[in-house]
Amino acid sequence: MHTPHNTHFIRLEHITHAYATGASHHAVLHDVSLSIPAGQSCAIVGASGSGKSTLLNLIGLLDEPTSGRVVLAGQDMTRAGAASRAIARNRIIGFVFQSFNLLPRLNALDNVALPLLYRGIPQHQAREAARQQLKRVGLTARGHHRPADLSGGQRQRVAIARALVAEPSLLLADEPTGNLDSHTAQGIISLLLSLNRECGATLVVVTARRRHRRSHGALH
Ligand SMILES: Nc1ncnc2c1ncn2[C@@H]1O[C@H](COP(=O)(O)OP(=O)(O)OP(=O)(O)O)[C@@H](O)[C@H]1O
Ligand SMILES: [Mg+2]
Repeated sequence: MHTPHNTHFIRLEHITHAYATGASHHAVLHDVSLSIPAGQSCAIVGASGSGKSTLLNLIGLLDEPTSGRVVLAGQDMTRAGAASRAIARNRIIGFVFQSFNLLPRLNALDNVALPLLYRGIPQHQAREAARQQLKRVGLTARGHHRPADLSGGQRQRVAIARALVAEPSLLLADEPTGNLDSHTAQGIISLLLSLNRECGATLVVVTARRRHRRSHGALH
């Protein structure tokens, strides 16, 4: 999807979101509007239960708002059907989660290659692309390790490489450092920021921990 420069890559307009719980509704987001320019890095910070993951899932087209509009790369995704939302999600968005979500039976290289295999890209080509992404996150020597044989920080690097392998224009990370010690966590945040600068993908990170923002000052 073409992204004109200096436009707002993400635009949320008057988003309200409520979860249905039994017979009642539990309102989580109340009239949220925000714009994030293409290439920007930013953090969503807030207390547990305040709706950070809900907001990220709406941006990532994993869920639909109760009301309001979600506009990505100039396209109103709110009324788009499930199929075009899935296509947009696969083409433009890479996700990184707190719990890594790697497949335990596959080694690092094949975990990273998987999104390309799903798209029908031949295995040798997918593996070559995966090799390049593992290099980018500093894990060239670990391609044949399974997730269980990697440290937490290394697992998250593999997950980041997997999120980047299809060259997304938007990288969404939900508490990517939540399972890591603070030193490793800082390394992951630095990596995400340098990838954001290097490849120009818009980066949105959910974090419950303000100190990452302060110590780096670059998430704004
Ligand atoms: N699928 C769901 N069904 C019903 N309620 C939900 C659902 N998902 C989240 N909630 C509720 O919505 C509120 C916001 O949840 P959300 O996961 O967005 O918060 P969060 O800010 O990401 O929290 P945390 O920092 O703990 O991850 C919470 O009260 C939660 O219980
Ligand atoms: Mg959350």
